[in-house]
Amino acid sequence: MGAKRGEGSWGAMGAAETPAGRLRRRFPTYGDLDRRARRRIARFAYDFVAGGVGDGAPNVAHNRAAMDAVRIVPRYARDVSAVSTATRLFGRDYAMPLGVAPMGNVGMVWPEADAILAAAAQQARIPYVSSTVANVGMERLAAIAPDVFWFQLYGLPADAHAISVDLIRRAEAVGAHALVLTLDVPMRQKRVHDIRNGLVVPFRYRPRTLRDIALAPFWALEMLRRGQPRFENMRKYVGEEAGVGELAGFVHRHMTTGVTWDDIARFRDLWPRALVLKGLQHPEDAERAAALGVDGVWVSNHGGRQFDAAPASIDTVPAIAAALGGRAKVLYDGSVRSGLDVFRALAVGADFAFAGRAFLLAVAALGREGGAHATAAFMEELRTTFAQAGARSVEEAARCCVLHPNAVRFEREEGNAMPQEAPRLRVLDPGEGRSHSGGLARTGEDARTINEPERLP
Ligand SMILES: Cc1cc2nc3c(=O)[nH]c(=O)nc-3n(C[C@H](O)[C@H](O)[C@H](O)COP(=O)(O)O)c2cc1C
Repeated sequence: MGAKRGEGSWGAMGAAETPAGRLRRRFPTYGDLDRRARRRIARFAYDFVAGGVGDGAPNVAHNRAAMDAVRIVPRYARDVSAVSTATRLFGRDYAMPLGVAPMGNVGMVWPEADAILAAAAQQARIPYVSSTVANVGMERLAAIAPDVFWFQLYGLPADAHAISVDLIRRAEAVGAHALVLTLDVPMRQKRVHDIRNGLVVPFRYRPRTLRDIALAPFWALEMLRRGQPRFENMRKYVGEEAGVGELAGFVHRHMTTGVTWDDIARFRDLWPRALVLKGLQHPEDAERAAALGVDGVWVSNHGGRQFDAAPASIDTVPAIAAALGGRAKVLYDGSVRSGLDVFRALAVGADFAFAGRAFLLAVAALGREGGAHATAAFMEELRTTFAQAGARSVEEAARCCVLHPNAVRFEREEGNAMPQEAPRLRVLDPGEGRSHSGGLARTGEDARTINEPERLP
């Protein structure tokens, strides 16, 4: 009875419960999916997804606290009967301003997770960004999601980036609509939970790993059926018959350091479509990107997985948007777990948001049904948030009234006393110099961002 009433927009009132309606009733939030995923998959696989860098994953928690601190002041008595979440990015139409962030090695979380998410994105018409270290090759993923396929590149610097260049050519050949160059992994990070869990590719069956596997029998059976995941994009360089270990060893040897601004300039010349730099948080880096003709700056701290001292990514969006001044699009990720979070990102200055774990944990929890469940949940929540905020379009969402107490403000130092290469921007304490503009470059007349002198807990 309660189930039927709870069907809402996914099923007719009083009609028999649909499979989608049942999932909606059982897993209405990210928290529900997270709990199910934690029980269902091996501990080392769950920690690989949910974890950060150091003990307690402080940057993951920081991203969440900062997101929760963003408040939207509602506007009522507007006609919201025709809310549209549709938007355009880099010349293409998408159903909402949300995409699937690139995630590598997700075959360890659920067999074919890359393909499941690509299919869900294609069906929902939202961008799907495939990782360099995906477990399904880009050629196959682009065929699954031809209208929404993007490719993410990690630099492989050996031989003057010969393999990076080949990956770019392959991404162009399969029709990727955008190339996303990830910059916030200048070196492999020391992630303590993975070290403690003995997580290596291919798996090494130590007592702890065996215990984790034994406690997740359904997951273990699925993995046994499909075999260990491989870095499929690398087969071309290692050999078509290469095994899991050879492919992993190749990635380990070649993905050593990141890319430099010179490399970015070179990749810009090579890549004819939209180029996005992912992982930036400093306005001077954003300015440099715009000067190189980059089309999008993706504000991100890698979901708190790279640098425990980094600011929460949502808190650096306004400064990046101001620095770009419309010269490039602002993309965002970090703790986007609901449609409300997508809206918050738009409200503080992003043009488009992406989520990683919210999609992947849905697949970990629900397998093949997880992708479609996540996209439907995001869409439903985004529409209701639009209505609460009184916004009828993405443009109106960007002009809503938002409180962003912890937005990081940057100020240029006076004079020329600093050497050229030293940092020339100073971060103000959030309480210093109250601002009522928030430095948002792209907001309209009735926009308001209010910085309150308040600190994160
Ligand atoms: C399991 C996992 C693997 C990831 N692999 C990649 C990757 O291969 N390339 C990349 O640019 N970012 C990668 N990321 C970072 C995501 O693209 C994104 O920045 C992050 O997940 C956003 O935070 P959220 O998970 O809180 O939404 C990965 C994230 C996760 C959770």
